[in-house]
Formats: sequence, structure tokens, C-alpha cells
Amino acid sequence: MCARTVKLADNTISQEEIASLATWLQQNQQLTKGPLTRQFEAEFAAYSGTKYSIMVNSGSSANLLMAYSLGEAGYLRNKKVIVPAVSWITTLSPFIQLGFECFLCDSDPQDLGVDLNHLEELLKKERPALLILVHILGHPNQMEAIHRLCAQYDCRVIEDACEALGSEYQGKKTGALSLAGSFSFYYGHHISTIEGGAITTSDAKLYSVMLSIRSHGWSRDVPDADRQAWREEYKIDEFREFYSFYYAGYNLRSSDLNAYLGSNQLKRLDAIAKIRGRNFELYRQALPEFWSQSSQHSFVSSFAYGTFVKNRLEVARHLLAQGIECRPLVCGSMGRQPFWIKRFGVTRLKVADQVHDFGLYLPNHANITPEDIAYVAQHFRSVAVPL
Ligand SMILES: Cc1ncc(COP(=O)(O)O)c(C=O)c1O
Repeated sequence: MCARTVKLADNTISQEEIASLATWLQQNQQLTKGPLTRQFEAEFAAYSGTKYSIMVNSGSSANLLMAYSLGEAGYLRNKKVIVPAVSWITTLSPFIQLGFECFLCDSDPQDLGVDLNHLEELLKKERPALLILVHILGHPNQMEAIHRLCAQYDCRVIEDACEALGSEYQGKKTGALSLAGSFSFYYGHHISTIEGGAITTSDAKLYSVMLSIRSHGWSRDVPDADRQAWREEYKIDEFREFYSFYYAGYNLRSSDLNAYLGSNQLKRLDAIAKIRGRNFELYRQALPEFWSQSSQHSFVSSFAYGTFVKNRLEVARHLLAQGIECRPLVCGSMGRQPFWIKRFGVTRLKVADQVHDFGLYLPNHANITPEDIAYVAQHFRSVAVPL
């Protein structure tokens, strides 16, 4: 028997929230997307500091919806995109599926966001229309410098903030730092709606296009002014409108059940982000001889504690034997993943390769206590060899 168990992730939905959901279920007829989804979207936009938010059924769906809608809205002058090599599969896969030419960018050695020198090289050489950022394990990218570079090369910026809900850069929430941002509410993320996700944006046109593409490409959810304009353009009467499709859309909707959970979870988000931030700091203090991730002008709503060790497998096995879960530092490098190698061969990138070969992350969630962290740190230090 281990002295304690420290899980990688824990449920954020409390027993009170389950009981409240059960009562709500018995009293409500509407379970599909409806008024509660719109309410949650308004609350989430207010939290993020954006004009709009759109709820979807996962963070992956949020990325797909952003990728497709940007093209359909006419916001991309070509189908070339820069994606961080250290990201998540569904940060990249929508662009591959949609036929984009994808360029992997190396990571900054401190915040693990995009490396500015490599970014500029790619912008100069490939002239892509789009950059998608990922705030790895909750650490914001160097947004000021990135926006300066991207403006210089006429490249639009969007964020995958699925690991960074509650993080801030210069006092603004991640996901609200560019044209659009995506979030995941899957189990193990900062808040959970079981499955779920959202997009934030302050761009009215993109908002209308995304609302349409989220639901088949019809106009039912689109704000009145755009809806009327679309109808007039194609001379569609109110009866035909039910089944008129302005885009070749998807169904990426969530439901009022998930939105009910989301509204309740949102009330606890500030407290959850604070605990995750505190835990990150406790790990940093407990492991001074190991590399620690850091970012500028930021509050970090930490997703997990990432570091590098020479003997990763030995460390992971030892920790597991002590009841402690850990994982590789997210996906490592996309340029070393089987799906990428099959298509393009191996892509070597200095820092991303280091993450791939030596990166690992330790648990952080809202139910982890300072005693848990001391326990993890003690066992980690007893075997781990710093890089
Ligand atoms: C950076 C990033 N993007 C997207 C996702 C996908 O989110 P979901 O699991 O809700 O589809 C994840 C999942 O962990 C992620 O870490």
C-alpha cells in the first residue's frame, strides 16, 4: 500500500452540483441546446472579457470550428498555417483535414510557447495567413512580440487556450488575446461540463459564421441582422429558412445539460485557478534543481507541473509504484508523432525534441494539497536526474 495516491486529474463536479443537476433534470423539458447554453455563453464571454462566446461539445470541436470558419469568413489569404510543434493533436489535425499546408514551429525554452526566432523565420519564408498558439500547461506565450511579428507579416493569430483557462497575460485572459480562442471543459481541465468546449471572440462576423457552421450551416442561431441579410441575399422565405444552409457545416453543438454544469463550475473557476497557481509555485520551490517553466507578465492557471529529466521511464515507474500518476509533457513534438512521420517524415526541432525525449509533467488539480506536493516532490527527487 502506498502512503497516499496523487491522481493526475480529479473531478471538479461536486456532489452538490450533481444533486442540483438531478433536480434540474426532473424539472426541465429542454435538454438540447437552448436558453441555458446562451446563458452560459454570455457568462463565459463576460469572464473572458470578449464580446462573444460559443459553446461546443469539446476543445477539439472548438479548434475545428475556428479553423474552418476563418476560411469560410474570408479571413485567410492562403491555406498556410504555423502550428507549435509542442501542442495537441487536435490543435493541428483540423488544418491537416482541411487541406492546409502546416509548418511546425519550435518552442521557446522558457514558456514552451512558440520560439520567436523560428516564428519569424517561418513567417518570412512561408508567408502563412494564420498562426495558432497553444499556451502550454497554462503558460501564456509572449503575446506582445508575437503580435508585432505577425502584424509585420500580415498573419492572423488565434489561440488554443485549452490548457490555460484562467491564465492571464498583462491582465487579460488567455483566449482573449487574439482573434479567437478555444477552451476545453473535459474532465481533468480547469472546469468540466463532462465533455465540452467553447470559443471566445470579439469579432461579429466570425461569430455569426461560427454559429452557423456549429449547427449544420443553417442560420437559426445567427444574430438577426446577419440572418436577415443572408436570407435577402439568397431570396429565401421564412419557411425555406428552416432548412437553408449557408455553409457546408458540422454539428458541434453541446446541450443545456452541459451548460447547466458549466454555469455552476464557472462560479468556482477563480478559486480553482488560484489553487492551481499556488500548487505550481509549491512544486517550483520544492524542486529547485529541476527546470521550471516560466512566462512573462503572467498569472498562470497551471494545468500541470512540467519539467525535464534524463531518466523519464524510471521516474514514471517509481512514481506510479508510490501511487503518483504522471505523464509525458503533453504530446512532445508533433514532428515526431507517427501520423506526422507517415506523411512528412521526422521533423527535428531543438527544444520540441527535448520536450519529446525528456519532458514529463507532475499532477496539478484543485484537490491537490501542499502535503500531496511534498509527497510527490520527495519521491520524484529520490530518483529523477535533472537534464
Ligand atoms: C492544447 C489542447 N487543445 C485541445 C485539446 C482537446 O480538448 P478536448 O479533449 O476537449 O477535445 C486539449 C486536450 O487536452 C489540449 O490540451
